[in-house]
Amino acid sequence: MKILEIDGNMPLSGTVRIGGAKNSAVALIPASILSNNKTTLINVPDITDIYVLKDILEYLNVKVDEASGSLVIDPSMMINKMIPDDLSNRLRASYYFMASLLAKYKHVSMHFPGGCQIGSRPIDQTLKVFKALGAKVEEKDFVFDISAEELIGTSIELDMPSVGATVNGIIVATLAKGDTIIHNAAREPEIIDLCDMLNKMGAKISGAGNSTIKITGVESLDGCFHSVIPDRIEAGTYIILGALKGNYLRIENIITDHLKSLLDKMQDMGCDLEINSDSVVVNCHDNIVGTDIKTAGYPGFPTDLQQPFVTLLIGAKGKSTVEENIYENRFMNIPYLNKMGANISIKERTLTILGGNSLHGEVVEATDLRAGASLLLAALKADGHTTIKNAHYILRGYEEITEKLTSIGAKIELKEI
Ligand code: EPU
Repeated sequence: MKILEIDGNMPLSGTVRIGGAKNSAVALIPASILSNNKTTLINVPDITDIYVLKDILEYLNVKVDEASGSLVIDPSMMINKMIPDDLSNRLRASYYFMASLLAKYKHVSMHFPGGCQIGSRPIDQTLKVFKALGAKVEEKDFVFDISAEELIGTSIELDMPSVGATVNGIIVATLAKGDTIIHNAAREPEIIDLCDMLNKMGAKISGAGNSTIKITGVESLDGCFHSVIPDRIEAGTYIILGALKGNYLRIENIITDHLKSLLDKMQDMGCDLEINSDSVVVNCHDNIVGTDIKTAGYPGFPTDLQQPFVTLLIGAKGKSTVEENIYENRFMNIPYLNKMGANISIKERTLTILGGNSLHGEVVEATDLRAGASLLLAALKADGHTTIKNAHYILRGYEEITEKLTSIGAKIELKEI
């Protein structure tokens, strides 16, 4: 098991450079195989979810050359075969291969995808899109066999603006016949990044970033060169850390427009922030006040920052509330935060945080990626020593976490026990 050992309460200063967005890269990689030609991706984050996607590509006989932060993906010798369960169950985004293999070969067999256990996470919306485009879906024991004689564009309304179903819908529609219109699409910046890359490859997609996206199918796609957008969730996590322990902590290589909902809330709380278009400088102080948040799809407050943000609310003066509207199981960090000194109660999908509390080190356990991030922030703020078990979750989404934190003054060590 991987564990993180942290001596807390160190002042943190200097610069953190944010890497490429996990939730963009995990869609761009499966989308790149729609072409038979090479695609070069740069600013790819160095995280374990990407290692799994590379293993899947190699399993499918796709050649992958990597240098620091870049991947050259060559699908010219690709073979369509069922991805083994022990690869596809390691991350949710493995199901983006359902769309790209279906689009390219008109047939795919795949297991139900994995991902953090933060809710039930069904894939009905993706299957609805595939069926609307003419695919036949058969399911037995969580293995999906999906095929189509022809994929034909149509108009689809998603029941909710699902990121995954929007990504899958866009990927599959790029090679379908005619026009596909996705209504109630997700509006996340990662969707725009995917469409930007696909358009460079020769796709015809308009409306990305809006609730209605139009895709006019094309015969084939070419390779391209694309730089992954910065990770707004990694950035937000370090900005919150700055408000907890920063002494002129600078977070750079970001797009602050993508973080507006977080930065607005932090300003309301009285956090000391200097916001530029591609960087934020943040200082901690003791007089921040509590606030209320409700998670929502972009441009609302991101569910992926809810857990890290709760750690900031623990020390804020007064009462705060947090309503989690996307996932039903994203409060698994709370018992551990309470063990460390927080006063947080849970009622259904809402947390009440009685603030103004200080934290002390404890032995705690990451239960998923962002719960792990929340505990890591708490450990860096706390007095004394914290051990975080199951740290592998954190490595799924935060690149070079110990190196980045050590460079700004944290005392942290990753161990294997
Ligand atoms: N939903 C359905 N049916 C579907 C799809 C979704 O009911 O077919 C529900 C889900 O159960 C959930 C909500 O709709 O309650 C939103 O799910 P969505 O499909 O938008 O999420 P996702 O695509 O599975 C991505 C990110 C998540 C992030 C969410 C929301 C990736 C690989 N994952 O998940 O990222 O929380 O969008 O923004 O892009 C993370 O990075 O820690 C993470 C979990």
